[in-house]
Amino acid sequence: MTRIKKIGVLTSGGDAPGMNAAIRAVVRTALYNNIEVVGIRQGYEGLINGDFIEMSSYGVSNIIGKGGTILFSARSEEFRTSEGRKKAYDQMLANNMDALVVIGGDGTFSGARVFTQEYNIPVIGIPGTIDNDLYGTDYTIGFDTALNTITEAVDKIRDTANAHNRLFFIEVMGRDAGFVALRSGIATGAEAILIPERETHLQELEAYLEQGYQNNKSSGIVIVAEGDKSGGAYTIAKELEKKHPEYDIRVSILGHMQRGGAPTAFDRVTASTLGVAAVEALLDDQKSIMVGIVNGEVTHVPFNKTIKNKKSVKLSYLHIHEILAL
Ligand code: F6P
Repeated sequence: MTRIKKIGVLTSGGDAPGMNAAIRAVVRTALYNNIEVVGIRQGYEGLINGDFIEMSSYGVSNIIGKGGTILFSARSEEFRTSEGRKKAYDQMLANNMDALVVIGGDGTFSGARVFTQEYNIPVIGIPGTIDNDLYGTDYTIGFDTALNTITEAVDKIRDTANAHNRLFFIEVMGRDAGFVALRSGIATGAEAILIPERETHLQELEAYLEQGYQNNKSSGIVIVAEGDKSGGAYTIAKELEKKHPEYDIRVSILGHMQRGGAPTAFDRVTASTLGVAAVEALLDDQKSIMVGIVNGEVTHVPFNKTIKNKKSVKLSYLHIHEILAL
């Protein structure tokens, strides 16, 4: 067993509620095992520039319930270059860092994979993104909180939509995947859900909405995933408006509010579980893996696998939606 004395922890990519809970778990598990922890600020950018802070048990007190990330986040262009990664490695050597825990999404893990290949540094990834689009884990940190935030917002929009007999197109995040849209659509009783994984034809959408009006519904909600092939909420709303000037249509883009706020209990527990698992994986001589949760159990998934494979949305949710949205 290699003796790891000092690790670095960073958050990278789009922030997600629960990242702080994961940082806390990493720091406390490391200290519990007599390993020093350095906080790296601004993701890989901070690793390159030596933007480090010493982490203590006290320093991570009262952050479990806070949104955002106390270590700040960035999408580093320089880390994509071999020169940038060399600088990062030199910083690790100069600061006696033996290993890294990186919290983020697929971009974060792609960087980590190359880095371990080049410098043989053990890196463990913790899935943190509201998109839930990582292969090898049922949940990513932040997904549950984002769903709850969206549900609250859409419920409010439903009130005003009902009052005015309106049809709302509500765009939610998910650049490449429809996980957020699909689940939030079911949670809010949306009349239609548009996701990139399934092409929706305008006629199909019209049929759904028409059915709602025939069933005396006084409002309509269409949840549109940001990455949907139809071109986003404004585009599809305009198309429908042209064909149906009788509809009173409004568009609402929920935007970055979906990434903020206090993490739910579910996300805090997931983050705590994965933070502990990440450090224990390092103690177990693992490298170049993501820790995930599948069927309630912690899993270790090689970066190669999580990067190369695409997680599928549960299309059975579309069936559930079809039955319930009438
Ligand atoms: O990956 C998380 C995510 O929130 C996506 O859903 C979204 O497309 C993207 O980040 C937005 O990124 P930015 O904060 O750079 O605008």
